[in-house]
Amino acid sequence: QAIYLKDYTPPPFLIDTVDLDVAIFDENTRVRSRMGLRRNPAAADPQASLCLDGEDLVLESVALDGRILAAGEYVLCGGRLLLRVELPEAFMLETVSLIEPDKNTQLSGFYRSKDGYFTQCEAEGFRRITWFLDRPDVMAKYTVTLHADKAKFPVLLSNGNPVASGSEGVGRHWAKWVDPFRKPSYLFAMVAAKLDVLREDYQTRSGRTVHCAVFVEPGKLDQCAHAMAALKKSMKWDEVVFGLEMDLDHYMIVAVGDFNMGAMENKGLNIFNTKCVLASPDTATDSDFQHIDRVVAHEYFHNWTGDRVTCRDWFQLSLKEGLTVFRDQQFGMDMHSAGVTRIQDVRTLRAAQFPEDAGPMAHPIRPASYAEINNFYSATVYEKGAEVIRMIHTLIGKSAFRAGMDLYFKRHDGHAVTCEDFVSAMADASGVDLTQFKRWYNQAGTPRLVARGEYDAAARRFTLSFTQQYPATAYERRLEAEGRKFSRGAYHLPVVLGLIGPDGAELPLRLAGEDKAVGTQRVLELREDEQTFVFEDVAVQPVPSLLRGFSAPVILDYPYAEAELTHLMAHDTDAFSRWEAGQRLATQILLRGIEAFQTGKGEALGWIPASYVEAIRTLLASAADPESDPALIAEALTLPSEVVLAEAVSGVVDPDAIHGAREALIGHLAAQLKGELLMTYQALKLSAPYSPDAAQVGARALRNTCLDYLAGSATVEALALLKAQLDEADNMTDSVAALAALANLDVPERQAALDAFLERWKHEALVVDKWLNVQALSSAADTGSRVRSLLDHPAFDIRNPNKVYALVRAFCRGNPRHFHAADGSGYALAADVILLLDSANPQVASRIARSFDAWRRFDAARQSLARTQLLRIQAKTDLSRDVGEVIGRALEA
Ligand code: ARG
Ligand code: ZN
Repeated sequence: QAIYLKDYTPPPFLIDTVDLDVAIFDENTRVRSRMGLRRNPAAADPQASLCLDGEDLVLESVALDGRILAAGEYVLCGGRLLLRVELPEAFMLETVSLIEPDKNTQLSGFYRSKDGYFTQCEAEGFRRITWFLDRPDVMAKYTVTLHADKAKFPVLLSNGNPVASGSEGVGRHWAKWVDPFRKPSYLFAMVAAKLDVLREDYQTRSGRTVHCAVFVEPGKLDQCAHAMAALKKSMKWDEVVFGLEMDLDHYMIVAVGDFNMGAMENKGLNIFNTKCVLASPDTATDSDFQHIDRVVAHEYFHNWTGDRVTCRDWFQLSLKEGLTVFRDQQFGMDMHSAGVTRIQDVRTLRAAQFPEDAGPMAHPIRPASYAEINNFYSATVYEKGAEVIRMIHTLIGKSAFRAGMDLYFKRHDGHAVTCEDFVSAMADASGVDLTQFKRWYNQAGTPRLVARGEYDAAARRFTLSFTQQYPATAYERRLEAEGRKFSRGAYHLPVVLGLIGPDGAELPLRLAGEDKAVGTQRVLELREDEQTFVFEDVAVQPVPSLLRGFSAPVILDYPYAEAELTHLMAHDTDAFSRWEAGQRLATQILLRGIEAFQTGKGEALGWIPASYVEAIRTLLASAADPESDPALIAEALTLPSEVVLAEAVSGVVDPDAIHGAREALIGHLAAQLKGELLMTYQALKLSAPYSPDAAQVGARALRNTCLDYLAGSATVEALALLKAQLDEADNMTDSVAALAALANLDVPERQAALDAFLERWKHEALVVDKWLNVQALSSAADTGSRVRSLLDHPAFDIRNPNKVYALVRAFCRGNPRHFHAADGSGYALAADVILLLDSANPQVASRIARSFDAWRRFDAARQSLARTQLLRIQAKTDLSRDVGEVIGRALEA
């Protein structure tokens, strides 16, 4: 039951207006919809019949132009309502249906949460509210009237402007909203709830006043200020950087504790997971604060890239998501440290997207087919999609990119368009031919870029050659098996580079054929399978700094010597590249360590070069320099994660050896650098009151990184440090850092600290999530069985996505050693949860199912244990399309 991009046809009808009347009662909700429809002049078949989408709706009546249709004049079948009457060119259609939001455990459509009723319509949730052509290329103007009990649900919201409200009946009230903009149904939202609200105004640069509001659970007003500030910063930034202004009088953010994803950009009425809104120093960490900035910005930026210009169909999802992630990344780089932000974004890409591209769910940023679209809200569509947009930005330059955005809005404002339309606007505005570039939209897999440098001292010439490798992935293997045509070829990509001399200075860059050097950093454009660049007048043997800022989402293969990497770590002008050199060096060492552990020689530590310890010592010492950036030092001290190391291993992945080597390196560094770590830890103690500003965040990050190293030793001293930090911390960042470090240790103090933490925070759902999370990620030997018993703990709730993500997803995807336990207990736990959730909430179940993606990379014994669980899941009757697609692909690849 796959859907194919090639089968797209325009909708046979268009819907110009929708008037919804929604009456909420305890037992159900009655939805009356009046739609103005007309035949689509662009339809393939001018006589096509009308077939509306609907899911879990109880139809009470259908009326055409005011006449109630008789039973034989329509049919209901397989989630569709098919009209069997002659239809005029334009007509009004009225339907009345009943829905049961209190029973909607999928959290798609209209559903009940603690404080009231909320919606989530992307991608296909609107059909769970009423009959509709539920596809993004049908854009209508909405009017919505909500009715509900006044005391229980005092706040009634929908998109656009409030135009009227009043009381009615016994204790009930109503409110009417009109959205002046046409929009696709996935951007529809409504809320009926008891909520507190923070209101502030924003003046746009053209002088319009936008009434901003953040709605939250009663009692949580003291946790909204940060989200409100983030919203205003985003509005300002989009005006300055892209010339884009808010177009509505009202901009509302509503936080809800039960939400499948992070947040949703509904026009003028964003609905957010509480995790992406609520923050106070007591309850949220520095990374929570920063995450909130980014998600608020992301949803706000969608107002233009998503809402004003939307997607023709769901294959084009990256049109809005890749572009909007790119925009929120740029915002993050401008608001916080650019280098640190880029490092963190690349780390996310490598931890989530590279493995996806290497596994059974591999797909290009624009897939050619899918069974369940919710499975494609993926790291590839989002994060790799953003890298693809970033490459256009790098290739054509900042000002041409801005011109391309202007042209894109000029051409497509108010329309539902394709990725081609976006690339064409960029090509036309810049004059750069991006035809070949479009391969990024159609080919899956992380390309490998093999680079080699050769220095000819006599000729003073440095020759750099590049070879692109892009082996077929599971995606192409499936296309092939289906007998579908596809072509593959070299990518058009930018390599940003510099050459560093032995003294650490950058060399001027003159390519053969040029008459003078042009700067010390260049963008090389690759388009061929093999390409060579010759630099002239190179006086000394340089160390090439390649892919600065991570200019393309590729795996770079360059045979750096360890000394060259240390040189780049110390001298590269690009913060990302300095960090990258350190990661490369650590990875090279750890790969040797992993092999050593597999042959029983790991503990001897012969694989750790003394020079590496010295490089880290230098790094730590640099923290004393007031010019240094502690945030960057913290990033540099953080070794590649076990998940990222597994990607770097060729052949069978041994999770125990990976864990062993990584822990051994941490332990060795901690032992060798104990004095320096302690000194840095103590020097960075802050006395100022908490603020999530860049300077404090950086200091805490480095301090807690030092603590983490020190804690690894589990000595009496280390325990004392952890306990002291737990006692003294006046903010969640420091508390949870100490708790997480303690959770790794098999000591009696661990349980006492966990108990005390829960007792203190049991009324703050998001903090309880952190309590679950540190236990899920613990490296302690008993983690598997503890996670299993936490499933039955009163603090856990399988119906709440945040709880499932904090405990189960974290365990399955962030704790590889325990998830891949040799006895198969991790796999059994995942399968149990997937089976429990499959019917209740298939989207969340499917996200957990993705934990099995890499199963074929492990040894035969583990593979057989994983296969048993995969088959067990597949055998469930009525397995959801969501989980079915993920498990099916895992088994077939
Ligand atoms: N468009 C939302 C965002 O990126 C995500 C919504 C995803 N919803 C889903 N059911 N897959 O901000
Ligand atoms: Zn988005």
